This record gives sequence, structure tokens and C-alpha cells, in this order.
Amino acid sequence: MQQSALHVGIIMDGNGRWAARGGQDRSLGHHEGARAVRRVVEAAPELGIGVLTLYAFSADNWRRPPAEVAVLMRLFREYLRVEAERCIENGVRLEIIGRRDRIDRRLRRRIDASERATAAGARLHLRIALDYSSRDAILRAAQCLRPDTVPTRDSFGRLLAIVDHGTPVPELDLLIRTGGERRLSDFLLWEAAYAELLFVERMWPDFGAEDLAQALGEFATRERRYGGLRPATADAC
Ligand code: IPE
Ligand code: IPE
Ligand code: MG
Repeated sequence: MQQSALHVGIIMDGNGRWAARGGQDRSLGHHEGARAVRRVVEAAPELGIGVLTLYAFSADNWRRPPAEVAVLMRLFREYLRVEAERCIENGVRLEIIGRRDRIDRRLRRRIDASERATAAGARLHLRIALDYSSRDAILRAAQCLRPDTVPTRDSFGRLLAIVDHGTPVPELDLLIRTGGERRLSDFLLWEAAYAELLFVERMWPDFGAEDLAQALGEFATRERRYGGLRPATADAC
């Protein structure tokens, strides 16, 4: 049986290679990647996902050529402009996690407006990680610890969300990475402590509702033990 309100994270990788395979500029891959985001967000609530965290731009992605970064930033602004309305209609609460201080003022304003406009959404909590680094978030949270209190896993987890301008979320259940690479690239390192990991070959622009459903099907077959023993079955009683 699948539990309700899963927290699923996706490292949306492979936009550039998808475009290069078709002899196209990488920016086309990013544009098609934004369409894949729409498909997945639309499908998520029906599949029992309560929180969806999408990795859109890492703190290390600033190392890319300025022209590619500019394309991505424009795309984020455009995505928020168009999608905020759709999020409201579909009960999606949008939250952008990550650093804000290196983001251009126009995009920052758009982020604030989208978050405010969608704050009442209760069907899906959509978190988009932008200028995000899990290690940096852990360091920032550690800096916020008060010397007179002993943090717990729960309290530290809450702090982690807050230092990244988010609100607390449950631990990650399933982490999907598209594009064939098998690494975490500094995404949700704390939150993924007991997440199931799924690496798929498909490039992000080709990813759709069926792929997400398939990923959740695979997740449902996994046995999560959290360090204990196999859960007792009815037969064993
Ligand atoms: C993911 O696709 C999008 C971002 C990192 C912004 P990539 O741009 O990394 O695509 P590949 O991995 O080069 O194919
Ligand atoms: C991870 O992809 C970041 C996002 C998908 C936003 P990258 O393409 O930047 O990761 P590496 O460089 O292959 O590890
Ligand atoms: Mg990549």
C-alpha cells in the first residue's frame, strides 16, 4: 500500500544533452524542460504526491556560460509569470527554495508575488530549488543554532527549510534523477537520509506523467526498513 502525501524530489537533468542530440542549442532543451515541469506538476497530486521538490538551478550552475545562465533566469521568470495563475487554479502552493541574494531583482519580485498568490494552495506543495546547495543550507542552519539549545533531527530539519526561505516539509520519500547520471549534485543531502533513489536514463525534456507514475510504481515495490528488520506481514503473524 502506498502511503499518502509523499515527498518526491526530482533532479531534472539532461536538458542540454537532449538538445545536443537533436543538433539544437542547449537553450531549446531548457525550454522543453519547462514544459516537462508543467506535465509533472499536473500529474503529481493524482499520484499521491503531497510535496514535490524540483531541482532547477544549483548554486554551482552559476559556473555555466553567462548566456546560458541568462536563458535560464529568463525562463524561470517566464515560468513564474505564466504558472502562478495555473497553480492557484489547481491548488498548488509554490515555494522557491535556495539563496535569494544572487538572484536578479525582477526575478526576486516575481518569486515573492508567486509565493504570495499561491499561498493558500492545499493540493500540492511545489518547491522549486533555485540557486540551491544542500551543503550551504546545512552550514547556514548550523550557524543559526543557539548555543543554549540542543538541536534534534526534527528541529534541525525545520531550520534547514527556513534558512532556504521555505517552510518545513516531511523527509524525502523518493528521489528521482533523470538524464542517466548517478549522483546527487548537492541536492537534499539531509532530507534524503532514507529516501529511495531512482536514476532514470530518460532526459528531462522527455519526462512525463507516465514516467512519474512508473517511478511511483517502482517506489511502491521498495521495502523501507529504516535500519530495522523486514516489516511483519499478515502471514507471519
Ligand atoms: C539540467 O539540465 C538543467 C540545469 C542544470 C539547469 P542540464 O543543463 O544539466 O543538461 P545536461 O546534463 O547538460 O544534459
Ligand atoms: C544538477 O544538474 C542540477 C540541476 C539539475 C538543476 P547538473 O547538470 O548541474 O549536475 P552535474 O554537474 O552533472 O553534477
Ligand atoms: Mg546536467
